Amino acid sequence: MTTSNPQLNSHGELIHLLSIEGLSRDILHNILDRAEPFTAVAEREVKKVPLMRGKSVFNLFFENSTRTRTTFEIAAKRLSADVINLNINTSSAAKGESLLDTVDNLAAMQADMFVVRHASSGAPYLIAQHLAATGRDHIHVVNAGDGRHSHPTQGLLDMYTIRHYKKDFTQLTVAVVGDVLHSRVARSQLHALTTLGVPEIRLVGPRTLLPAAAAQMIPGAPLRVCNDLADGLRGADVVMMLRLQNERMNGALLPSTQEYFKSWGLTPEKLALAKPDAIVMHPGPMNRGVEIDSSVADGRQAVILPQVTFGIAVRMAVMSMLAGGAQ
Ligand code: CP
Repeated sequence: MTTSNPQLNSHGELIHLLSIEGLSRDILHNILDRAEPFTAVAEREVKKVPLMRGKSVFNLFFENSTRTRTTFEIAAKRLSADVINLNINTSSAAKGESLLDTVDNLAAMQADMFVVRHASSGAPYLIAQHLAATGRDHIHVVNAGDGRHSHPTQGLLDMYTIRHYKKDFTQLTVAVVGDVLHSRVARSQLHALTTLGVPEIRLVGPRTLLPAAAAQMIPGAPLRVCNDLADGLRGADVVMMLRLQNERMNGALLPSTQEYFKSWGLTPEKLALAKPDAIVMHPGPMNRGVEIDSSVADGRQAVILPQVTFGIAVRMAVMSMLAGGAQ
């Protein structure tokens, strides 16, 4: 079998995790299934497992992170790997060393895996292609968020969370609410929800924060655009809130954050339009009082902190799958 997907080998097995786009339903379910037993490690009922003993994982975070960087570090340590967190601000990248020179030098220190977050869409692909072109494709690359493009482990942990609470993807109505335009998380979620068979996905937000031709942004996806929050929330099973990505906005796309909250902020009254057992998700960091009211963020329907804990198990599943080759 040959494949043009750079994250799969010639047998269709995952060697890098660069994007959810192009991954089959079987691969997604394999990762989610593999994460199940790791929840005992994530919750520390089991302290550690030896699946990556002797392996070196390098965290290269060229953009800020709290959840992703820390849970990758925890996941790697609970798999018994050695973890090196490169501090980009005090590294020679700050003196102008290129991304690929940085990678080459860390590869020379016998890296087994790079976990990469970068402001440029495609940076993890560039690293994977460079490693392949130089005969080092035994070193795995995991995308921890690249520009507006993709955040695949966030998408996977979101799917794990939905499956945990709702069981069957094929019966769900999912609302993705807010700044879809600038969100790599939304793109990963939409690919995953579509591949896993969700029959109705609503893109809910003001026109200025949705991509042009939003309903066609993922070929074959069952997308419905809602430019009204009430319309988007009515009868939903899952409400996935998105952060306003101010750092990626060019120019004023909103009158003010107060106006945004009035029209698009998730309050208890608005949430009451969704199903009574709907879950509320957010990838973090949250802008409280902008896209979500605190009473919802901390309320009984929120599963925002469980998302973080599940992230450890899902990242353990991804890393051990790549490192062990057992798929
Ligand atoms: N969800 C997420 O990517 O959060 P961090 O930026 O804190 O990693």
